[in-house]
Amino acid sequence: GKGNFRHFMEKELHEHPVVIGDTLRRMVDPSTRGIALPELPFDFARIPRITISACGSAFYAGLTGRWWFEAIARIPTDGDVASEFRYRTPPLPDGGLGLLVSQSGETADTLAALRYMREQGQHVLSIVNVPESSMARESEAVLETMAGPEIGVASTKAFTAQLVVLACLALAAARARGTIGAAEEAALTGALLEVPGRAADVLEKDEALQAIAARLVQARDVLYLGRGNCFPIALEGALKLKEISYIHAEGYAAGEMKHGPIALIDPTVPVIAVAPSGPLFEKTASNLQEAAARGGQVIVFSDAAGAAKLKGIATETVVLPDVDPFVAPILYAVPMQLLAYLVAVLKGTDVDQPRNLAKSVTVE
Ligand code: M6R
Repeated sequence: GKGNFRHFMEKELHEHPVVIGDTLRRMVDPSTRGIALPELPFDFARIPRITISACGSAFYAGLTGRWWFEAIARIPTDGDVASEFRYRTPPLPDGGLGLLVSQSGETADTLAALRYMREQGQHVLSIVNVPESSMARESEAVLETMAGPEIGVASTKAFTAQLVVLACLALAAARARGTIGAAEEAALTGALLEVPGRAADVLEKDEALQAIAARLVQARDVLYLGRGNCFPIALEGALKLKEISYIHAEGYAAGEMKHGPIALIDPTVPVIAVAPSGPLFEKTASNLQEAAARGGQVIVFSDAAGAAKLKGIATETVVLPDVDPFVAPILYAVPMQLLAYLVAVLKGTDVDQPRNLAKSVTVE
């Protein structure tokens, strides 16, 4: 049941800390605090390319994974939504790795992408939440997200669990390829282990989000901006808002704003920035400056240092705990989803069963 929560989605949002912790425990050795994945039927040192396919939120987790694989394991990685991927018939290199991400393990297009990858001679690894699913059965290897049953149609805890698996997989790949040293691996693993506690902090303090939800509920359109490994989190924030509040929202790479979407910006279009401190922060800050100069309401999600730098241009600010930029997408997903939830509650929509949507899309 829902316990004391109003909706399954609210309950599932509050499970982020536990689920992230449970998923990590499967992949981190508590004594060495190093990554310890189950045995995989391939050697990352010999993988020429990774191809990721999935749908919806699972695809956004995959896009974040792509960033990690490229940045820390230096493996060429490509990704596409399964409904496009399966019909693009992309040639894939012999012995490459096909990676599928799915909560249900039953999404028709993702399953078709899996079969295509097998035909193309890929090792096939699925990240699924349902170990008895079709995808799990048809894969060479499976890594399970420990999210437990997810009832709300809008994915929440399964998404952060997927991110955790992908981050650990990228660390394992980096070790196999010698692209990071032991000290860096330990630091990044340590950063992952801090996420459950930080996610709990975010869930506890939702007053700032309430005020922002009251603002968003008035909006017809909302723009979400992010860069680097947080660009997919902007996409996730926008998808979640669309799904459950029916407000039109777009996620954009912050640097793309001036190539079109900036034309939308006026005082009625809130701009939500997923902007943790990190190597790309200043770039995002200058994009936000441009939005503010056009009268946009800039709503900043950052840490204390980032928030201080954006003080002059932000209409509202949510200060999140400091985390290593490597794990920022996992933490920042939590307030994005929670914000969408709060807006939907204000709107009075059917949060757990939004119109026109199914939990599992088993037809093409
Ligand atoms: O079961 P799957 O993870 O394969 O589902 C993929 C998408 O249908 C799913 O993530 C969908 O986008 C959610 N409604 C997102 O909240």
